[in-house]
Amino acid sequence: MRRWLASPYCRGHSRSISTCRAVVLPRFGGPEVLELRKDVPVPHLEAEEVLVRTVAAGVNPLDIKMREGYGRSLFQPLLPIVLGRDVSGEIVAIGNGVKRLHVGQHVFGALHPTAVRGTYSDYAILQEEQLALKPKSLTHVEAAAIPFAALTAWRALWSTARMKSGQKVLIMGGGGAVGLAAIQLARAAGCSVAATCGKRSCSRVGEAGAELIVDYTSENTREQLTWRFDAVLDTIGVETTEALGVNVLKRGGHYMTLQGEAVKLADKYGLIVGGGIATATLLRKRMQYTQSHGIACADYSWIIMRTDAEGLEQIARLAKEGRLKIPVGETFSLDEAAKAQTARENKDSQGKVVLQVQQE
Ligand SMILES: NC(=O)c1ccc[n+]([C@@H]2O[C@H](COP(=O)([O-])OP(=O)(O)OC[C@H]3O[C@@H](n4cnc5c(N)ncnc54)[C@H](OP(=O)(O)O)[C@@H]3O)[C@@H](O)[C@H]2O)c1
Repeated sequence: MRRWLASPYCRGHSRSISTCRAVVLPRFGGPEVLELRKDVPVPHLEAEEVLVRTVAAGVNPLDIKMREGYGRSLFQPLLPIVLGRDVSGEIVAIGNGVKRLHVGQHVFGALHPTAVRGTYSDYAILQEEQLALKPKSLTHVEAAAIPFAALTAWRALWSTARMKSGQKVLIMGGGGAVGLAAIQLARAAGCSVAATCGKRSCSRVGEAGAELIVDYTSENTREQLTWRFDAVLDTIGVETTEALGVNVLKRGGHYMTLQGEAVKLADKYGLIVGGGIATATLLRKRMQYTQSHGIACADYSWIIMRTDAEGLEQIARLAKEGRLKIPVGETFSLDEAAKAQTARENKDSQGKVVLQVQQE
């Protein structure tokens, strides 16, 4: 349980900041359940934690799924929670164990998917290793669009598939934030990249660096994918994309989906039974593809974003060099969080939706 009193064990302004505005989720439901509260406690910092004055917070599909009840097996007993994973802002206080970062620095980063005090808030708390210095060339809004999506791509391409220069990767859903990040990360590492996307995203996917682009609404998608891949990252993860992805892999290649079933099964059957069914489901799939396609057992994976200090440093470096960008579609203020999520859900806006919590 966190302590909610001012801590003597930190440096900066944390003692003077005891409450702030935050968008709170008191129960699961539509955008109307989101409440902007003005007196949400700011817990004091643990040793490795950093208090960030939020300038911008990215809106991710996960925020919307959580609002609707995805992850309820974990989050239900913890309500009310604060949504939001991505942040960009200024450090106002640090815990005593923080070594690398200082008060006054401008940083960006992302929380782990299971965090309960998110970034739709005037002040966000992250571990030091979840933050990197914001490149000066990026505004806070631009920076807040990057980390959660890029770290998801990082987790798949490096932590899981261990891609190497010269290998070929297929990104399914190349027009989305994770897809665009994956294309740019893979190209920067010297991989050849193919991507599927909708018509409206083709030019953006090409600019990101994909060399073979296939419109997923066209009739002969399979025939257009003329390469054989070392890895496939499927951000869509439905039956048809999985079948296509597995069929274009080289023998022994990696298929990775972002739509693993573990959370849905835990929500349906509870953490213990659901966890057991999820393990069995994953094993069954791995055995099935080992037999049918020669994918080695460990190479069919459900990817879950993890924060990763080394990955975030690489992402910050590429963003600084102008080699990693996530286009921003629309911005909304903190009190418009429900409107921002609706815009994201309706896909009114192409590009990332970002909350501009305070002025740059
Ligand atoms: N497991 C995890 O830890 C994790 C982490 C991050 C995200 N995710 C999930 O991954 C998905 C993508 O996230 P995101 O942030 O990239 O979302 P996003 O920015 O909204 O992108 C989704 C894009 O997918 C494209 N698309 C839809 N159907 C497609 C199909 N059949 N084939 C190819 N492209 C298709 C659409 O692009 P067009 O404009 O080209 O049609 C859409 O813009 C979401 O479901 C999200 O919840 C999971």
